[in-house]
Amino acid sequence: MLKKLLVDVHTHVYLPRYAELLRSRSAVPRIIPAPAASTDSKPSERLLILDHEPSGGRPVGPQYWSRDEKLGFMDKHGIDVSIVSSANPWLDFLPAPDASDIAIKLNDDLEEYCSSSPIISDQRIKRLYGFGMLPLVPGITTSALLDSVRQISLLPHLKGLIMGTRGVGKGLDDEALDPVWEAIEKEKLVVFLHPHYGVDNDAWGEKENGHVLPLALGFPFETTVATTRLILAGVLDKFPDLRLLLAHSGGALTQLSSRLASCIHHDPLVASRLKHDARYYIGRLYYDAVSYGSEELQFVADTIGRSQRMMFGTDHPFFPPLNGEIKWRSVVENLEAIQGVSGWSQEQKDGVEGGNALKLFNLVQ
Ligand code: URA
Ligand code: ZN
Repeated sequence: MLKKLLVDVHTHVYLPRYAELLRSRSAVPRIIPAPAASTDSKPSERLLILDHEPSGGRPVGPQYWSRDEKLGFMDKHGIDVSIVSSANPWLDFLPAPDASDIAIKLNDDLEEYCSSSPIISDQRIKRLYGFGMLPLVPGITTSALLDSVRQISLLPHLKGLIMGTRGVGKGLDDEALDPVWEAIEKEKLVVFLHPHYGVDNDAWGEKENGHVLPLALGFPFETTVATTRLILAGVLDKFPDLRLLLAHSGGALTQLSSRLASCIHHDPLVASRLKHDARYYIGRLYYDAVSYGSEELQFVADTIGRSQRMMFGTDHPFFPPLNGEIKWRSVVENLEAIQGVSGWSQEQKDGVEGGNALKLFNLVQ
């Protein structure tokens, strides 16, 4: 029997070409040298990607771009396979021609990053696969987006694409994206939907709370809103085979699913537009298991009706250990959460740790 594999579907990289781009910029998003006082201790650069970046940004170092660091992190935690995606904010800040040009290069870079990774010989699969990206920015042409979908579909180690929530400027419920969804569905690529903007910063008040509010609440709520808008626009009716994987276990989507269904039912304008109850669409999505708690995982699985649509993730290289611990708490907690779900059989837990992802990304032999 083949060894059971641990597969990480939520793990990021800033490819060297992208990190260089961030270093060359004078406005956020950017990478800047760390202030002199902090340079004796590693790392010596800081990452500023949010609009009102708290605490002078985050420390950033080779774990964000080095492939050896990624493989070392995987080895340390027993992760066999990673489906690596570029981290936010992708190409959102670039003019259309630049976005289009660099998307092609970054997709090629990611293919090389994955294709030259070691093979797991008894399984005949590589250790690294990837999500490519599209130049989803205002002003981009549909044909440039379709070329990009085609490029990704032809790169054998790219199994899908990562996408933020802005589309080409009007969000994911924009009809302008219909040809793109159609092409993605046809090419059987998985869309990894990931937040970046959070919610209106006014919601966070005036107290300095570091990154806690935008990351813990803003990120998941952005995913919740974007996915709901996509459902309300009928995208999942028009493209029934589209496969969407939601970051951070879909945020609050499952918790709010019955309320959403009720609000739709009581609003004829929207109810007449959709073929199914809201909970049907929510059950058709895929969810990472990046929620750090057994109860939350069990709740998502119970709400969507199955654990087979859920899969382990780490969010590496974000949330690194702060006190020199060897193993990353963010990884250990997510693994313990899976193992601790009282309502799951060992087979279900194994599925969430790897088997479900191997099937979704068609990596099983
Ligand atoms: N912080 C980010 O900016 N991105 C992530 O993916 C996780 C944490
Ligand atoms: Zn992430």
